Amino acid sequence: MEVSELSVGTWGLSGDAYGPLADAEVDRVIDRALSVGVTLFDTADVYGRGDMERRLAKRLEERSWVHVATKIGTDLESSPPRKHFDPAYLFTAYERSQERLKREVIDVLLLHNPSVQALGRSETVGFMKDLKAKGKILAWGVSAGTADQARAAIRSEADVIELAYNIFATADLNDVAADIEESGVGVLARSVLAHGLLGGQWSRDREFYPDDHRSDRWTPAELRTRVKQVDALRPLLGGAVISTRSLALRFVLANQLVSTAVLGPRSVGQLDQLVRESGLPPYLRDTTMADLSTRMKKVGVEI
Ligand SMILES: NC(=O)c1ccc[n+]([C@@H]2O[C@H](COP(=O)([O-])OP(=O)(O)OC[C@H]3O[C@@H](n4cnc5c(N)ncnc54)[C@H](OP(=O)(O)O)[C@@H]3O)[C@@H](O)[C@H]2O)c1
Repeated sequence: MEVSELSVGTWGLSGDAYGPLADAEVDRVIDRALSVGVTLFDTADVYGRGDMERRLAKRLEERSWVHVATKIGTDLESSPPRKHFDPAYLFTAYERSQERLKREVIDVLLLHNPSVQALGRSETVGFMKDLKAKGKILAWGVSAGTADQARAAIRSEADVIELAYNIFATADLNDVAADIEESGVGVLARSVLAHGLLGGQWSRDREFYPDDHRSDRWTPAELRTRVKQVDALRPLLGGAVISTRSLALRFVLANQLVSTAVLGPRSVGQLDQLVRESGLPPYLRDTTMADLSTRMKKVGVEI
């Protein structure tokens, strides 16, 4: 499967993660992504409790060349919501996603943050492989929260893994780099702006609305440190690299192990900035990469 190296994630568009968004803007972002050549959308059955899958189905219509990666394994009907990776649950979740997406075949079906133990159960992996063998999905994989989960997925012969990867979060991908290389697994790199931090526009005392997941992601002291670390990137800007946003995105795209960078725009304006500033290969000069690593080390970030 071949996909655009910039893909669009829909967690932020669903309203679940960063607060509500007007439906019209969500549609405009999807339409704009299509018009600039994005051929992969990342979603999950839980985003907007299924609404995001429905909305994608509506906007993508008959465009069979545009791929959708969706995730299953979170049961919102139990209270509190819990993870569920037994085949009976997964089959129901798969059928519901397939119906919402209105696609005969789901392109990429991911298990949504399964534990290493869950991945160790042969019936879970067997179920995903069986769906693929029966032609109900084109590829299966795992959205992993840790390097161990990603490694377990690769060793279970997943076709695709999704991982957080950005200037502040390199450890997991680096940790499984050899496994990725050896297996040829596809890599969806998400959170390329560290949830917006690397957009480079935040004050050191930025506050978030309570329904924004970032309101309890960092303590005020951690946030001040993080914003200072972003400031340490500014001397690297120059030439075509016009912003920390551009630097952050190019950093991800420059990694040969990354198949696609899953962007998280919340408006057409943000999408356009990201597309415009992503540039072309080679995304970053070797000297810039080395300088980046040195500067980050000085402010306590290991790349
Ligand atoms: N476990 C999982 O499977 C998992 C977890 C997380 C994400 N994902 C996927 O990955 C996608 C992206 O994740 P993410 O939301 O963490 O991505 P991200 O790109 O790190 O952060 C997105 C946030 O960055 C800010 N932003 C976006 N474009 C910008 C621009 N041009 N300039 C400045 N700031 C900008 C926006 O926040 P503000 O403008 O409000 O600052 C936006 O909400 C999700 O939509 C989802 O599909 C999957």
